[in-house]
Amino acid sequence: MRDRLSIAVVGHVDHGKSTLVGRLLADAGGLPEGRLEALREQCARNAKPLEYAYLLDALKDEQSQGVTIETARCFFRAPHRDIVFLDAPGHIEFLRNMVTGAARADAALLVIDAREGVQENSRRHGYFLSALGIGQFAVVINKMDLVGYDRIAFEAIAAEYRGFLEQLAMRPVCFVPASAREGANVAAPSPQMAWYTGPTVLDALDRFQPPRQEAGQPLRIPVQDVYKFTAEGDDRRIIAGRVESGVVRPGDAVVFSPSGKRAVVKSLEAFGRPAPAAAGPGESIGLTLHEQVYVARGETISREDQQAPDVTARFRADVFWLDGRDLGPDRACWLKVGTAEVPVRVERVERVLDASTLAVAGDRQAVHTREVATCVLRAERPVAVDDYAHLPKTGRFVLVADHAIGGGGVVREVLEDDESALRAEALLRDRRWIRSAIAPAARAERYGQQAAVVLITGPREAPRKELARELEQSLFGQGRMVYYLGMGSVVYGVDADILKSHLGPGLTGREHIRRFGEVLHVLLDAGLIVICTAVN
Ligand code: GTP
Ligand code: MG
Repeated sequence: MRDRLSIAVVGHVDHGKSTLVGRLLADAGGLPEGRLEALREQCARNAKPLEYAYLLDALKDEQSQGVTIETARCFFRAPHRDIVFLDAPGHIEFLRNMVTGAARADAALLVIDAREGVQENSRRHGYFLSALGIGQFAVVINKMDLVGYDRIAFEAIAAEYRGFLEQLAMRPVCFVPASAREGANVAAPSPQMAWYTGPTVLDALDRFQPPRQEAGQPLRIPVQDVYKFTAEGDDRRIIAGRVESGVVRPGDAVVFSPSGKRAVVKSLEAFGRPAPAAAGPGESIGLTLHEQVYVARGETISREDQQAPDVTARFRADVFWLDGRDLGPDRACWLKVGTAEVPVRVERVERVLDASTLAVAGDRQAVHTREVATCVLRAERPVAVDDYAHLPKTGRFVLVADHAIGGGGVVREVLEDDESALRAEALLRDRRWIRSAIAPAARAERYGQQAAVVLITGPREAPRKELARELEQSLFGQGRMVYYLGMGSVVYGVDADILKSHLGPGLTGREHIRRFGEVLHVLLDAGLIVICTAVN
């Protein structure tokens, strides 16, 4: 099968990105019949020179209709593979699209004007490619006609840019001297540049490695929605989401993160077509489960026999900041990762990098607009994330500030949060839990209730216990299976050993809370409504 490669075309304004793509399409037979002739006639009629970039504009309008992304896409059949060009209007838009996932490139063409040489934006783009993990790219030194197809000029620019890229540990596939307007070294070698024996731009496209096979990666489906069907007295729940990586089939044992809930897939459901036998990357799918588990938007589905996403409230990230107001520890944001949305703050700005000079700004806790920074982020609740280097689709996030996209970034390292140890323990406990043959759903039906914890909190002097007792009685009176679990019931029994080594009033330690939670867990598994109390 032919592979498909998405290629971002990046470079400073007017360096010839659109012309290059237009010329490539024209010379390599990638245009609909008559398109070039029509454009030529139109230009002649208006007494304008032929602009290959117009070709692209015409195609864009047709081809990206109905696609709500800022980056125009343009399709091309290269000799050995299908190519999607992503022609971004500017570097901020490019970044925004890359970070939000509106566009994802497997490789890039970086265009530099031979007459202008390496510009600030040329360096920025190199840096962005590196930060986004797009290590595969070719540098096109364009408009060689304007420097007399001069070898020295080409080599000087290539050397300067190569030096810059080396600081980023980036190595392009090749440097191609070209003239997009004249078609030199675009689809065919140029007689004016006989001194150059390397690949043309078209050759370079075939030299890129095929995209990583997302189907072979671990399963990730961020849950978009849960639909309940009651119309025909059937209480099926369909969990809907888009497969970002991996493949899902009926019979797969799956895990939901961050909740850690488990279930087995019963069927796949697709709208308006027969139920598929499997669903892979890019497919939007509905799942039904053998056992009803209560999950909501924001969880990520993985397979039990594959690596699960990390669950954490803290991670180190490279953040691209685009908003006009600074990002810093006191700026409240929302973190959007997968389908989860949680409040988040910057715990610490570790370093701010000037993307064009690669200079590190001193000890600064504010990230200005258009800067890239390594930060530690702390979310209000744990979320499921992946390391970007491992799974880019689920390792990427967006930061929303004041109801607009303020920036975005990629997860570099998952860090411990306050609950990491507890979570690891709970995960093991869930795996080893002796499951009853009576499904939680069957229990829920028999008892006419959903197992739940009611936690009553308030200031120290508030009558929490009294309220708990009253609630227990009232629910009991309504026929509910309810239990008020008092702190004392745990402290003097389950906690007796730690109580001995603890002087002073009350146990507030982590171990106490853990044990209390475990007792709760048993009662919940038994299908009860459990009431407990705690001071704020
Ligand atoms: P933006 O989309 O605005 O960022 O620009 P771009 O990089 O897409 O540049 P575009 O392809 O629109 O080209 C800008 C101008 O440079 C146009 O007038 C082109 O005709 C001209 N140009 C592009 N390639 C060449 C070339 O190889 N030689 C010469 N002489 N001019 C070129
Ligand atoms: Mg353009």
